[in-house]
Amino acid sequence: MAKKLFIKTYGCQMNVYDSARMADVLAPLGYEPVDAPDGADMVILNTCHIREKAAEKVFSELGRLRSLKELKQADGGMIIAVAGCVAQAEGEEILRRAPSVDIVLGPQTYHRLPEMVARAARAGGGVLDTDFPVEPKFDHLPEMHAPRGIGAFLTIQEGCDKFCSFCVVPYTRGAEFSRPVAAVEAEARQLVAQGTREITLLGQNVNAYSGEGPDGRPWGLARLAWRLAEIDGLVGIRYTTSHPRDMDDALIAAHGDLPALMPFLHLPVQSGSDRILAAMNRKHTADDYRRIVDRLRAVRPDIAMASDFIVGFPEESDADFAETMRLVRDIGFASAYSFKYSARPGTPAASKRYGHVDEAVKAERLAELQALLDQQQDAFNRACEGRVLPVLLDRRGRRDGQLVGRSPFMQAVHVDAPDAWLGTVVDVAVTGRTTHGLTGEVAAATGTALPAGRVHAREALAG
Ligand code: SAH
Ligand code: SF4
Ligand code: F3S
Repeated sequence: MAKKLFIKTYGCQMNVYDSARMADVLAPLGYEPVDAPDGADMVILNTCHIREKAAEKVFSELGRLRSLKELKQADGGMIIAVAGCVAQAEGEEILRRAPSVDIVLGPQTYHRLPEMVARAARAGGGVLDTDFPVEPKFDHLPEMHAPRGIGAFLTIQEGCDKFCSFCVVPYTRGAEFSRPVAAVEAEARQLVAQGTREITLLGQNVNAYSGEGPDGRPWGLARLAWRLAEIDGLVGIRYTTSHPRDMDDALIAAHGDLPALMPFLHLPVQSGSDRILAAMNRKHTADDYRRIVDRLRAVRPDIAMASDFIVGFPEESDADFAETMRLVRDIGFASAYSFKYSARPGTPAASKRYGHVDEAVKAERLAELQALLDQQQDAFNRACEGRVLPVLLDRRGRRDGQLVGRSPFMQAVHVDAPDAWLGTVVDVAVTGRTTHGLTGEVAAATGTALPAGRVHAREALAG
């Protein structure tokens, strides 16, 4: 009988990818994913350490799981594993504070899960594996066990050598590493063969990608994207998250020349103040950022920009914050994430003894920034009303007969359409807005033909 596996994922898209890969690794052992932890034979919390709040969630969740584990004691037991970035950063403390945890594993060792499960069974728990193995896990992962969906993530680069002074990622994920082009292409082809139509290439610094090409030389992200665009049946390519310093000429040009590259870019800037950017060790200025966006808009005028912001970094003054607001007004973002600075153990910014900004001031600045960003997102969505957008229908909606898709600009678009159209790109006449997305009508039904070159997605699905 299949064993039940429940994985709960926190944090970024890379954790979403890793969770799916962990399920692949455990499939040969008879584990099948389920939607709830009750009665599960194994529960994995795939955790995030980026801000204090994210990390705290793990311990409260472990508290809840303890009673489920007790209930399962008489019925084969429950293995509890903590994976991801909190595991990497606080592995030993987790085992000490939460005795119900059997396995703690870092983001780079999950290919060894079968071994860990066996060890946990023998020893009754207490397994810790937070190595950074010399050989990347990708060399040891099995083939995909289950299809990933119409939109899917594919990790091509991992780790970070940038060491922004606020950030834990270089410590939890390790040094920058890029997968070879052939490995990425093979995985992309497998995804498309299983029904994926749009791939989001993932990396902590995805545009620092420098993987070994078929010619034995390092290939950058632009060249990789051109290569993947040749895969028949793949209609869209996105990438996230990128760093301003790695927006090279080839990548900017690709946004103008490569139709499969979607006109949406999440390019975190963090702050609009050069003084704060320097203290953050970002190694770019606010004007560098403006110039990059200008160049992107020169080749792709409709590109939608998204970003991340931190408010209340140590020593951020009102004037610094005003610079951030000015940058936001200058650029005009289609969407954005913004956060209060959270001091993270082990990072250079956290060890500063002075200059920490009051929580109340942080909250005020965050509210002001978010109000502006919301207003911009709203304006962006409003500007889409009345337009016809190509939309990849990628999931069912809440209502019967309703499908939801992604616009090129990453907006969720709700339409009435039959299930058979899932996985196809249709032209949608946008008629209205929801809280965070758009509603519309499939223009094919009003006489507009599907755009040439996109129809093959539907044919591929039918065939
Ligand atoms: N690799 C990406 C982002 C990684 S983390 C990049 O280089 O931009 C995602 C976002 O979390 C960051 O962009 C930043 O805005 C936010 N973040 C990271 N560390 C943080 C901290 N200590 N406090 C608050 N927000 C943080
Ligand atoms: Fe963190 Fe900076 Fe690396 Fe992004 S570039 S992961 S923010 S250290
Ligand atoms: Fe969080 Fe680790 Fe991603 S800290 S944001 S899960 S890389």
